[in-house]
Amino acid sequence: MPHDFMPGLAGVPAATSSISDVDGQRGILEYRGIRIEELCAHSSYLESAYLLLFGHLPTPAQLNQWTGDVTHHRRIKFRIIDLLKCLPEQGHPMDALQAAVAALGMFYPGRNVKDVENNYWSAVRLVAKLPTIVAAWSRLRHGDDPIPPRDDLGFSENFFYMLTEAGPLPLWAKIFDVCLILHAEHTMNASTFTGLVTASTLADPYTVVASSLGALKGPLHGGANEEVLVMLKQIGTPAQARSHVAQALSHKKKLMGFGHRVYKVKDPRATILEDLSQRLFKECGNSPLYETALEVERAAGELLKGKAIYPNVDFYSGIIYDKMGIDVDLFTPLFAMARVSGWLAHWLEQLRENKLFRPDQIYAGEHNRPYVPLSQR
Ligand code: CMC
Repeated sequence: MPHDFMPGLAGVPAATSSISDVDGQRGILEYRGIRIEELCAHSSYLESAYLLLFGHLPTPAQLNQWTGDVTHHRRIKFRIIDLLKCLPEQGHPMDALQAAVAALGMFYPGRNVKDVENNYWSAVRLVAKLPTIVAAWSRLRHGDDPIPPRDDLGFSENFFYMLTEAGPLPLWAKIFDVCLILHAEHTMNASTFTGLVTASTLADPYTVVASSLGALKGPLHGGANEEVLVMLKQIGTPAQARSHVAQALSHKKKLMGFGHRVYKVKDPRATILEDLSQRLFKECGNSPLYETALEVERAAGELLKGKAIYPNVDFYSGIIYDKMGIDVDLFTPLFAMARVSGWLAHWLEQLRENKLFRPDQIYAGEHNRPYVPLSQR
């Protein structure tokens, strides 16, 4: 069979999927056929997660049940908290999250992935518990006790409560929830593909999500939102943005939060986030960081003209989280808290017609080399 090697598997389909679709030329992203603009305007993260996982918008009774199930399963075992306490506090929160999720699977032994009911409860637990783990880690490393979830609070409000002991402003809760919707799913990206490869071995969903978390962490994927903030803080002021961008590009450095394998126009998620950040900064006071970001976008637009490189989802999300007082190294875990619903939707889809991933390679090495004894090398 002839094979053309495609570096990064660019353009090579890895699955047939009906979960989400990207039109990279027109800048359209749909979850189960519904445009993200519609979902951000009318839906919530939990409702969108249901849509991704089960293929349709829930009825009021289904939404009630799903919300109740997720709310009920937010707590984490004290042993998971003890595990977090044992990790070095200067370690990266993504590493702590990955370790905790892998350990989570040991507490829920129903590992038969052919059991539909078991799979439902695994999905509920993972969607419910990731925010609790992220918040617990954040508090522990600052020397504070973790705060248990509150059942009377919605998904996003509860996360802020567990993180800070205070509720967010209503506008913050809404914006944060929209951020979660926008990060929930994005076709066959690196972390989803990683999860699918693990899923195809019929590993349990905790292992699937732990694998995806590993792939999400890298700076070319989910780690970019953290890098954007580092870059903006390095630039410092709007006045320095243009020279920084020009210098970075002249050294062939990539601008973090720019570019995308699929989008050849501005990422529609970046457009929504830009509008939200505008609202946030208007109502809660401007910051030099936001002004700097606007200037970076402007300069990059001019200097990269004709290269089809525009801001992606990671460019504005970090600026929003920073304004909300969230630590920079929690940005990628926030991405993960949202993306877990997409990973699990792909996991469930993969199980329906599973085939073990076992790609080929093009061998470029030598053959028939003699073994040279150690004494003669
Ligand atoms: N800044 C400057 N130039 C860029 C950038 C950028 N951010 N992205 C791509 N380019 C240039 C690149 O230098 C190359 O130019 P040339 O053809 O002259 O050598 C050309 O565009 C193609 O780049 P590539 O890296 O081969 O393209 P890709 O499809 O592999 O890149 C990407 C996709 C996301 C890895 C890349 O755009 C990038 O590294 N961006 C910065 C990191 C980032 O923001 N990642 C988040 C992606 S979106 C959310 C997510 O998936 O998590």
